[in-house]
Amino acid sequence: MLQVRVKPGVEKKLKSRFPWVYRKEIASYSRTPKKGETVVVRDFSGKFLGYGYINPDVNIAIRLLSFDKNVKPTPELVKERLKKAYEYRKSLNIPSNAYRLVHSEADFLPGLIVDVYDRWVAVEFTTYGMEEYKQTVVETLIELLQPEGIYEKINEFSKKVEGLRGEEQLLYGHVPEEVVIQEYDLKFYVNIPEGQKTGMFLDQRNARYFLRTLVKGGERVLDVFCHSGGFAISAKKAGAGEVIGVDISDLALELAKKNEKLNGLEGIKWVEANAFDFLKEQHKKGEKYDIVIIDPPSFAKNKAAVPNALRGYKELLVRGLHITKPGGILAIFSCSFHITEQHLLEVLQDAAYDTRKVLRVRAKTYQDLDHPWILQIPNTLYLKGVWVEVLD
Ligand SMILES: C[S@@+](CC[C@H](N)C(=O)[O-])C[C@H]1O[C@@H](n2cnc3c(N)ncnc32)[C@H](O)[C@@H]1O
Repeated sequence: MLQVRVKPGVEKKLKSRFPWVYRKEIASYSRTPKKGETVVVRDFSGKFLGYGYINPDVNIAIRLLSFDKNVKPTPELVKERLKKAYEYRKSLNIPSNAYRLVHSEADFLPGLIVDVYDRWVAVEFTTYGMEEYKQTVVETLIELLQPEGIYEKINEFSKKVEGLRGEEQLLYGHVPEEVVIQEYDLKFYVNIPEGQKTGMFLDQRNARYFLRTLVKGGERVLDVFCHSGGFAISAKKAGAGEVIGVDISDLALELAKKNEKLNGLEGIKWVEANAFDFLKEQHKKGEKYDIVIIDPPSFAKNKAAVPNALRGYKELLVRGLHITKPGGILAIFSCSFHITEQHLLEVLQDAAYDTRKVLRVRAKTYQDLDHPWILQIPNTLYLKGVWVEVLD
């Protein structure tokens, strides 16, 4: 097996179970590395640190799968980890038949995402090394879930960075264009082959439910970046009055309209627009809402993109605060690891200063529990939300 020694000091983070070795942290190889192969990682003096797989072409060159000399990265290990991930999800009693079964590093399977939508499964391999285990993953999922179909989704960003070989494709059985899943007492259509990410933003399940607890009856609610209507439909179900959902994607809005009907609801206004333009216009018109939800896509895929992303957040928040009624609620989310909770709080303060508002924090929400967060692996916490009451 290829032996890799890391530079002095790097062993510390690996001993605390952080599973990445950056290319610049590698001191030497025992021979020229091959993309995707299994490696033994050693400290500078040669002591064993762990096993992983390598992609020498990328910044995060090694992802560790084991820190135990006796536990080698094998298809059996991947199978065992998948089973453990499934046991963990079963223990959560998720109020839905759609859930994240594997959350990459947080399930000790770096580079693998698995989302279950009732009897269908969407998988994403985001690293070259994990792609090597595709057959094992598919076989184990069939054994564990007996699904009707497994579909491979491609994350274009990872494909480009890692040089992945996979294509969007059916890996097993059949997957219809639309499946219906249930979340609490709501139902949603999910389009696995054509939808964004793996089809639905399951990570916001708890936040969508939290919104329902804020609705007392008759509120005017704005769901910005609404995708297939999760927040808007949750608000309407809880008894909100006028509800507006805004998204730039016609496919997402098509699903949103169908989801409204599917739940026996009516009257939500769905608007296809760029959220920035829409909020600007609402502000100009002097529109006011009791609840404003702002759940944008990831604006910062890396550190370098943070300043620009924060400018985007500031604009959204200034507009958002202007159109929230006194005593109303605004929620802002970041689904990028690089835009932290602290960033959100700071931009909120900045926007509050500009708009002369006082903000009372009502809640913070995070990705739901089926998207685990390992404390020692900060990158596994990516979705943060801050809910504020807007006081004059
Ligand atoms: C994180 S998702 C929102 C998830 C949604 N809140 C839910 O619970 O399902 C972000 C959404 O923003 C939309 N989007 C991206 N850029 C946009 C823009 N400039 N204006 C409006 N919508 C945009 C995408 O189509 C996507 O549906």
